[in-house]
Amino acid sequence: MNTQRQYLIYSISILITILNCIISVVEAKASSDHDLPYFESYHFNKAILNQKNQSSLRQLSLVAPPLSSSPDCTIWTKACSEELLKLAKPPENVEWLKGLRRRIHENPELAFEEFETSQLIRDELDKMEVFYRFPMAKTGIRAMIGTGGPPFVAIRADMDALPIQEAVEWEHKSKLAGKMHACGHDAHVTMLIGAAKILKRREHHLKGTVVLLFQPAEEAGNGAKRMINDGALENVEAIFAVHVLHDHPTAVLGSRPGPLLAGCGFFRAVISGKEGRAGNPHRSVDPVLAASAAVISLQGIVSREANPLDSQVVSVTSFKGGDNLDMIPDTVILGGTFRAFSNTSFYQLLQRIEEVIVEQAGVFRCSATVDFFEKEYTIYPPTVNDERMYEHVRKVAIDLVGPTNFRVVPPMMGAEDFAFYSQVIPAAFFYIGIMNETLGSIHVGHSPYFMIDEDILPIGAAAHAAIAERYLIEYG
Ligand SMILES: *[C@@H]1O[C@H](CO)[C@@H](O)[C@H](O)[C@H]1NC(C)=O
Ligand SMILES: *[C@@H]1O[C@H](CO)[C@@H](O)[C@H](O)[C@H]1NC(C)=O
Ligand SMILES: *[C@@H]1O[C@H](CO)[C@@H](O)[C@H](O)[C@H]1NC(C)=O
Ligand SMILES: [Zn+2]
Ligand SMILES: [Zn+2]
Repeated sequence: MNTQRQYLIYSISILITILNCIISVVEAKASSDHDLPYFESYHFNKAILNQKNQSSLRQLSLVAPPLSSSPDCTIWTKACSEELLKLAKPPENVEWLKGLRRRIHENPELAFEEFETSQLIRDELDKMEVFYRFPMAKTGIRAMIGTGGPPFVAIRADMDALPIQEAVEWEHKSKLAGKMHACGHDAHVTMLIGAAKILKRREHHLKGTVVLLFQPAEEAGNGAKRMINDGALENVEAIFAVHVLHDHPTAVLGSRPGPLLAGCGFFRAVISGKEGRAGNPHRSVDPVLAASAAVISLQGIVSREANPLDSQVVSVTSFKGGDNLDMIPDTVILGGTFRAFSNTSFYQLLQRIEEVIVEQAGVFRCSATVDFFEKEYTIYPPTVNDERMYEHVRKVAIDLVGPTNFRVVPPMMGAEDFAFYSQVIPAAFFYIGIMNETLGSIHVGHSPYFMIDEDILPIGAAAHAAIAERYLIEYG
C-alpha cells in the first residue's frame, strides 16, 4: 500500500486533531535603540535615567508626575486598587484600548506570523518609553517596567489568531478571509498594553520589575516553549495570565487553585509485523490483531489504573492497516489522544500508553514504536495554579471588583500553552468574563460567532497591573 500517501493523510488528520484539542480550550521593527540586546538596552535605559534629572525627565515626559493625593502603596490598600481603576477607566483611556483591540481584531495573524500585531505593540511601548527585548520566539516581546532589579514578576499575553472565517457582522470584522481572533487574544494583547501604561505611570511605586511577555503561537502550542527557550523567564519568580471566558458575565474574574486546565497529548504508534497472504496466516505476523489487542488494553489504563477521582482520558481515534482484503498488512498505524489534570497522572499516562502498545505488540510477535510528538511541542502539560499565586489573584480580584464578582471555577478539559510556564515557576491563570446577552457575546472560544464585551478592557488592564504591583510589595 502507498505508505507515503497514508502518512500524508495521517499527518493531516493529526494536524486536524491537534487543532481540535486546542479548540476545546476554554472556552483560550524596533527603533535602533531597541535593536540592542536585552541587557544592553536595559543599561541604556538606566543610563538615560541617571544622566537626566527628574525635572528634565518630566519635561521630556519620560516619567509621569506622581498623581496628587495618590496613596503611597508601600503597603497595599483598597485605595491602591481604586487608584489603578482610576487610571484605567477614564473615557479617553477606554477609547484608546478599544481602538487598539479593534485594529488587532481587523488584522488577525496566525501562529508565528504576528508581525504587525507585534509592531503595533512595540509602537505603543515606544510611545510610553517602555524598553523591551525583541524578537523572541520570532515575533515575541519581553518588556520591563520598574526598578530593573529583583524581584521580577511576569504577566503574559498571547498574540495569535485562528484559521476561522469570522461570521460576526460588525464594523471591525476581520479584514482577512479565513482568519479571526476567535479566542480573544486580541483582547489579551490590549489588556497587557493597557497594564503597561498604568504600570509605567506608577513606575516610581514599583518595588521591583514587572516583565510583560507578548508571546506568539499559543494555538500552535510551541509559542510559550520557544519564549522560555529564548529567556523569557530569566530572573522571573512568578507569572500570571488571563483568558477571556464566555461563561461569566462581563468583567467577572475567576480562577481555582491547583489543576485548572487538562494536559493534552497525542500519540502515534507504528505496529510492524510481516505481510502475507490472508489465506495462510501462519506465514505472516499479523499487526492487525496486535493493534486490536493494544486498543482494548489501552482502555484498561484509565478504568483500572487511575484513581476515579482524578479525571483522565485515553481515546484511540485512528486505526489504519492495509486495504487489500486478501492480504495481512505489514504495519498498522494507531493514533489517539490523552488528557489528565495532574502533572504526575499526565506523564504516567504517556508512559503507560507506550508500555501497553509495545508489550501488546510483543504478545503477537510484532514490534511497535510510539511517537508523542514532543519535538513539535504538540504536547501540552496540565495548567496547574500554584496555591499561593492563586490566592494572590483572588485577593487582588476581590479588592478590585468586589467579592460578588470573583468566582471559583471548575477545572476544564481544554489545554493552554501557559502550562509550559507553570511547569517552570509558580504561576496562576485566571479568567475574565465576557458574557453580555444584550451584546451577543455569548459564544464559546473558537466559534466563528465569538465576540467579546469590550468593557472588560480597562478592568483587565487594571487587574494585570494590580497583580504585578502588589506581588512586588507582598512577595518580593
Ligand atoms: C535638571 O535639568 C534641567 C533641564 O535640563 C536643568 O535646567 C537643571 O539645571 C538640572 N538640575 C540639576 C540639579 O541638575
Ligand atoms: C511534571 O512532570 C515532568 C515529568 O515527570 C517533570 O519533568 C516536570 O518537572 C513536572 N512538573 C511539575 C510542575 O511538577
Ligand atoms: C452589555 O452591553 C450593553 C451594550 O454595550 C451595555 O449597555 C450593558 O451595560 C452591558 N451589560 C453588562 C452586564 O455589562
Ligand atoms: Zn486562547
Ligand atoms: Zn484558543
